[in-house]
Amino acid sequence: MSSSQTWKKVAWRSPSNIALIKYWGKYGRQLPRNPSISMTLKNCYTETEMEYRFGNVSNGPVLDFRFQGKHDEIFAARLMHYLDDISSEKPFLRNLEMKVSSSNSFPHSAGVASSASSMSAFVLCMLVAESEIIGVEKDEEEFLKEASSFSRLASGSAARSLYGGFVIWGESAFIPHSSSKYALPVTEVSPVFRTYRDAVMIVSSKKKTMASTRGHKLMEDHPFAQERYGQARVNLSRMIEILRNGDQMGFAELLEHEALTLHSLMMSSIPGYIEIKANTINIIDRIREYREKSGVPLAFTLDAGPNVHILYPEEDKEEVIYFIKHQLKDLCENKKWIDDEMGTGPERLI
Ligand code: PMV
Repeated sequence: MSSSQTWKKVAWRSPSNIALIKYWGKYGRQLPRNPSISMTLKNCYTETEMEYRFGNVSNGPVLDFRFQGKHDEIFAARLMHYLDDISSEKPFLRNLEMKVSSSNSFPHSAGVASSASSMSAFVLCMLVAESEIIGVEKDEEEFLKEASSFSRLASGSAARSLYGGFVIWGESAFIPHSSSKYALPVTEVSPVFRTYRDAVMIVSSKKKTMASTRGHKLMEDHPFAQERYGQARVNLSRMIEILRNGDQMGFAELLEHEALTLHSLMMSSIPGYIEIKANTINIIDRIREYREKSGVPLAFTLDAGPNVHILYPEEDKEEVIYFIKHQLKDLCENKKWIDDEMGTGPERLI
């Protein structure tokens, strides 16, 4: 191990992702109760720059964290907790000082979950720092697998942000080497799904009623937990099949079924809670009506909050944007929506 003692710099951009088949419920060290599949986004990302110095401290890590230029003690505390959790696997951290500066492409108040992009960007910087300090370079496949695994420990869904396109996290007999410890790209995808876009309708930018950590925890005593885990496995196999065979209406049906199931699990938790708002339902109604009338295979999904993600193919972009501007925008908070598309995964900036 080389003691560098001078400051070095690394920076990554890492994207957010939206789950098609949802991860809801976990055990052990951030292991999912069921496998999930997501689509990686392009325009919603975090950029993180890390300056690091090795060998000047012995009781580290020492972390100075800024978000959008300002010190953020809450996120810094979350990162320190994470670094403490992985300290036995990454002993080099004890001698590491870090000045980390992070920013999101999407507004902080947009109600778009940022833990997947921010945690994966941080982990990518940390692992590059490690390999430069130790002087061992891994090949790209091994590096991404390790980054996915360490991102998972920081925030479950972050495991999927390491790859572009469609990504699986958790075991499936149909995807060789798939694992609960890390995510992998789903490579067998029909051309009709390769151009999918995501328009995010911002219904509310307020904090969710329940943090997702608590939501996962409530699955432990959930009356439908075992049913759900079984159903999610079946839905995952169906989604893999649909992505292969290009059935866009089948995709829409399954995508929406997963989104509504996620929120019905929240409502039937003990205690039950509601994250969707009146305009979430109004937007959903209009999407279904529009699909019925136009034949455009757009479909909605939801993450743990009230905002509606509309997935649709590039070839219908003009029509869908017209529909959003004329029928959905007024139902969004301050008429706010985000025009996003499928992304290719993280990018090293420095
Ligand atoms: O990664 P977490 O702990 O924020 O949980 C994410 C949960 C969902 O967004 C609701 C589903 C998913 O698979 O991303």
